Amino acid sequence: MLSSMTNTIDYDLIIVGSGLAGLRAAIQAARRNSKIRIGVISKVQVMRSHSVSAEGGTAAVLFPEDGDSIESHIYDTVKGSDFLADQDAAERLCNEMPNEVYQLEHWGMPWSRREDGKIGQRAFGGYSFPRASYASDKVGFFEMQTLYDTCQKFDNIEFLNECFVTSILQNQRKFVGITAIELSNGDFHVIKGKALIIATGGAGRIYSFSTYALSSTPDGLDMAYRAGLALKDMEFVQFHPTGIMPSGILITEGARGEGAYLINKDGERFMKKYASKLMELAPRDIVSRSIMTEIKEGRGFKHETGVDCMKLDLRHVGDEIIKQKLGGIREISLKFSGLDPAKDLLDIRPVCHYMMGGIHTDINGASELQGIWAAGEAACVSIHGSNRLGANSTSECIVWGKITADEAVNYIEKEPSIESIPNDLAVAEEKRIYDGIFRGSGEVNPYEIKQELTDTLNDKAYVYRNEADLLEGLRKVRKLKAMTWKHVDDHAKEYNTNFSNVMELDSMFRISETVLIGAINRKESRGSHARTDFPTRDDKKFLHHTLAYYNPDEPIMKTHPVTITNYKPVERKY
Ligand code: FUM
Repeated sequence: MLSSMTNTIDYDLIIVGSGLAGLRAAIQAARRNSKIRIGVISKVQVMRSHSVSAEGGTAAVLFPEDGDSIESHIYDTVKGSDFLADQDAAERLCNEMPNEVYQLEHWGMPWSRREDGKIGQRAFGGYSFPRASYASDKVGFFEMQTLYDTCQKFDNIEFLNECFVTSILQNQRKFVGITAIELSNGDFHVIKGKALIIATGGAGRIYSFSTYALSSTPDGLDMAYRAGLALKDMEFVQFHPTGIMPSGILITEGARGEGAYLINKDGERFMKKYASKLMELAPRDIVSRSIMTEIKEGRGFKHETGVDCMKLDLRHVGDEIIKQKLGGIREISLKFSGLDPAKDLLDIRPVCHYMMGGIHTDINGASELQGIWAAGEAACVSIHGSNRLGANSTSECIVWGKITADEAVNYIEKEPSIESIPNDLAVAEEKRIYDGIFRGSGEVNPYEIKQELTDTLNDKAYVYRNEADLLEGLRKVRKLKAMTWKHVDDHAKEYNTNFSNVMELDSMFRISETVLIGAINRKESRGSHARTDFPTRDDKKFLHHTLAYYNPDEPIMKTHPVTITNYKPVERKY
């Protein structure tokens, strides 16, 4: 019997995730139709969604009169992706973005300003024009605040915060609802709906050195995967060049956009050897590889923790600009590393920052199941291919939040009623959670297993990869997965973080496998996936997306074609 299944909660549109994509979707759906009821369901409080941590910018072409163009934004994005982006999707992103920046402004976004009063834009890696619109270095925070405020204007948006969604319920491949645990009291709910938008963000906490919030675990991706949706391009994990030591908190690319240098042990701006034109503002995959090459060749530094690192020099940028434009990273450096960027060199190292992969969708964000869309980092549309350019992620969240809401509302308006949910579906899920995890037995400490798992990904599937390491990583992940960690010691109902941590860990295993197997199969180097044993890009064999479908033993892997419209793949030079 279900403990508290009542089927009493229902919405026309369920949005799981309350970051930028989820909030933009909620606003669009509410504006389109004031009669539909929208439930935004989030594992955290809205303003704790990881989107608030976005720092440096949101990319859009705002000043064609100064020489920028949509076509240049498209080409930079496609080239940055190492030609794995679907070019029609990149075109859509770049065409839609200028309006979205102004729409945010009309809703109250406090963009930083140029001297002439127009929206400020700064230089970011891989772009031919400074087109990262910014609000100091707290872009995500201000965008979230703007969208959350805007949500308050609509009576038909309801927030269910601190609800851990555990599964997607479907009937004959059609979406009918979700199951969720209310974290404050431990109640298990079935929530019915006509349509679902998955906007649960990325899953970078499968790596131990990570810029992500601790809540950025793959439970959203995993519920989609278990429901039969393909995960696309999971092998492409972005390592941002500048995670500060030892925490890994992001030092925005905006620092280099404002003029910061990367310095090796010999005091050299080493990027001149790797990207002589763009230097520190080359795309992230190139800068991260350059840092790791310098370290490997003995020109790095040892941090006091014993870990190799490199130095970021902002001293010449000056105290005034740092305080005015980079106040967030100044505070982070002072508080978490005891360093003042106006006086000290910062210790940095490439850090897990973004997953190019995610739920496989078409250009409208539609998944392979009726009534389900995905938007933002949880989705792989694919705009970023094998390497995303900085500032294109917040842009994607906003554009595809809007697109998926439009699509979902069109669908909802044609659907006669919310379907009832076959009882056995929810019973099976309750059994999986409560018998499989909550009352599971085991000797092994799940927190130690989590640490080992995330260290394994860090060691074996980092900036440079090779077959032996990846195979060893997979073997280790599977060994850890088979251990008896699936149990919860704390049996309290209220805010049982032991329980939610173990559920998160459960999802981390399946998603880590898709990253490792995708990386093993891709025997080439492309974008963020750099194989020392296959150092070049191989368009003949690998100009395709990877798809992983859930299967209890190991994923079923398939391929999917890349959409090429105007830009023939060529060698990237910067
Ligand atoms: O460096 C940054 O501010 C990160 C931006 C992004 O990932 O888009």
